[in-house]
This record gives sequence, structure tokens and C-alpha cells, in this order.
Amino acid sequence: MSSYLESNYKKITTHVLSEMKHRGEKIAMLTAYDYSMARLIDMAGIDVILVGDSASNVMAGYTTTLPITLNQMIYHASSVMRAVERALVVVDMPFGTYQGNSKEALQSAIRIMKESGANAIKMEGGQEIVESINRILSAGIPVMGHLGLTPQSIHKFGTYVVRATEHEEAERLKEDALILEKAGCFALVLEKIPAELAAEVQKMVKIPVIGIGAGNQVDGQVLVLHDMLGITQKFSPRFLRRYHNLTEEIKGSVGSYIKDVKTGDFPNEREQY
Ligand code: KIV
Repeated sequence: MSSYLESNYKKITTHVLSEMKHRGEKIAMLTAYDYSMARLIDMAGIDVILVGDSASNVMAGYTTTLPITLNQMIYHASSVMRAVERALVVVDMPFGTYQGNSKEALQSAIRIMKESGANAIKMEGGQEIVESINRILSAGIPVMGHLGLTPQSIHKFGTYVVRATEHEEAERLKEDALILEKAGCFALVLEKIPAELAAEVQKMVKIPVIGIGAGNQVDGQVLVLHDMLGITQKFSPRFLRRYHNLTEEIKGSVGSYIKDVKTGDFPNEREQY
């Protein structure tokens, strides 16, 4: 076992994540939206796969996460579920399927769980969505919370800058974290907030806190897979570490293929019948 992999869980569950927090083992989470990528990152040992509504940006090319539909999220989630053996799979509830009406929220969550086979759902917001969270939890569906920069509210924020830098918003965020924990959320994502505030929340709550642009004093990290592999290029926030430059690799390989086809070099004698 590698030293950074303190445990060797066969299957990650919400209970395993709680155990990991209490043992001080960091949680590694990435997004995936399709079978092939999900299979690769599951084989590599990722703990949690988020079928994020960031699919709206990276898979469909929209500028926000708002347009993606429940049916599209279920399609992405079921593709991921066919690939995954070990990771816990969490699916984002898309914009407009839970905010206003807790009964509709429950129906949306049930559709995701029934039609994709996912393990849990994620919802953006605090106090204002707690009624929906309660109803979903009472149906036995695990819920991951998401506070800080919540991209489904981009039109309210007006910009993707760091959230909760002012006292009032930071206090509200801490209250919301306690509300989500008390409601029964099994984990919490904190996006793009000061590292010091995230560290405070991590100590305040017993549930695992996963950060994205929230410093390293939290229980785990999440990144968008296409960002960390260097497939997306325009998006370059300070918190993003790029582990690869797949844009250049793919352009290089496709360029070689084009050259080989055009020059008649491909296929050669061994590559034909
Ligand atoms: O949709 C998404 O990818 C997310 C992560 C950025 C946390 O919500």
C-alpha cells in the first residue's frame, strides 16, 4: 500500500468518507460525465466521482451550468455508473429541479437515483433549500451540500470572484454549514472561499468538507477533470493545478493521424486484411 493511501477500501460509501475524515485521511474527488473517463479515474483509485452540472460547460459548451436538464444529468450519471466499481458516485441536481418546491425536489432526486443507480446527490445552497433537503433525506437519499461560490446562482453573484470575504457573508456561510450538517447532509463542498474560513468550517462540523479553491485545511479536494487534465484551456483560476496538457497531446496525435492519412502512410501493409 502506498504511504498516501492509508486505507484500501474496496468500495467507498458515505460512511467510509466519514471514517476517512475522522482518521485524517484526505478525500480525493474529481468530476466525470461519461463511461470511458469514469472507468479510468475509478481504476486510478479516486474516492468520489461527481457527475457535476459542470457537464453543461465542459461537455455541452454552455457558458454557465444553468441550461443542463434533469434528463441530461441522468444520461451522464448512468454512463458513469456503468463504469464505476469503487468510487462513491454523487450527481448534481440541476438548476430548476429543486429550488422552489420540495415535492418536485424529491421527485427529481428519486429520478436520478432510480434511473442512473447513483449513490447520492448534491445540491447548492443553505437555509433556503433545507426543506427540499429534509424531504430528500427522509426518502433515504444521501445529500452532499455545496456552499460558497455556487455556480447555479451566477446571475445573482454577477461574477465568479471569491465568496464570503466579508464578515456578514462568512457568518451566513458558517450558519448554513451547521444547518446542512444538522439536516443530515453526509458531506459538504466549499467552493472558492478564503482558506481560513474553510478551515474554520472544517473544524466546526463533523461531516467531511471537500474544497475547491478553499485551501488545504479541509478534508478533501475536488477539481473538474477536464480542467486538471488540460483539456479545457480558457478557465484558469488560481486554485487549478493542471496535471497534464491534453490539449497539446491530442492536437499532436490528431495532427500525426491527418498527416499519415494524407500522405498515404496509414494504413500500412500490417494494418490491412
Ligand atoms: O459541477 C461541478 O463540477 C461542481 C464542482 C466544481 C464542485 O459542482
